Amino acid sequence: MFAVVAASLLAMRQGTRLRREQARLVARAHEEERAWVASELHDDVLQRVALVRAEVEQVTVRLGTGAVAEPVDTHLRGINAELVDLAVTVRRIAARLHPTVVDQVGLVPALESLVQEFDRAGEVEVSLDASRAPSGLPHETARAAYRIAQEALRNVARHAQARTAFVSLEAAPGALILRIRDDGRGFDAAEQSRHGIGLASMRERALIAGGEVKVTALPGQGTTITAHLPA
Ligand SMILES: Nc1ncnc2c1ncn2[C@@H]1O[C@H](COP(=O)(O)OP(=O)(O)O)[C@@H](O)[C@H]1O
Ligand SMILES: [Mg+2]
Repeated sequence: MFAVVAASLLAMRQGTRLRREQARLVARAHEEERAWVASELHDDVLQRVALVRAEVEQVTVRLGTGAVAEPVDTHLRGINAELVDLAVTVRRIAARLHPTVVDQVGLVPALESLVQEFDRAGEVEVSLDASRAPSGLPHETARAAYRIAQEALRNVARHAQARTAFVSLEAAPGALILRIRDDGRGFDAAEQSRHGIGLASMRERALIAGGEVKVTALPGQGTTITAHLPA
């Protein structure tokens, strides 16, 4: 009897390890795919946009001045402005796809700029307390924390109707605790059917890094996302 229970426990544990390993591989493939798309956007699409702008510039110069040239010139300036706008958008998409900023500058500065971005966007006042953040975090943890915060803040902006949101990093024994709290309308977290891709991807992110995510929300009482990640 004991042997049977022990064997099935072992099988369960191996199953969990296997799922974790699979999730890690899938996540790495996603990360690589995102990095590829981001670099294509950067190196190819943006370069082409720049080329077209140079062409437009040339035509403008050749056009010269005069009554006939003027409306065409106005038109070309409009095209140029559109292209500048397009380049800004593409750059923003590339940055969002692959925020290498975490690897390059570290979690705290990356979160600072993320929080600023959401804070500046308007409706919700967003702040960060990273004064008790542990240092020397593993890459996986830093990346997971960034993505979870990003996804959680997106939800705050989209669903919470909050006045304020607060992001904090704290150290616990062997762990980083990341919290994203808002004072918005909350939701029924027990109602699984309401969970979408966002919450699922936060959970998956945490799982891959070897941690977990907890959602504390009640209708009318705000939402708190808590991630425990290995430090
Ligand atoms: N901070 C929040 N405030 C209020 N509701 C939220 C918040 N975060 C999530 N929700 C609710 O949980 C649902 C699922 O969120 P998510 O999994 O990110 O999917 P999506 O954002 O695509 O709807 C949302 O549609 C929303 O109803
Ligand atoms: Mg969402």
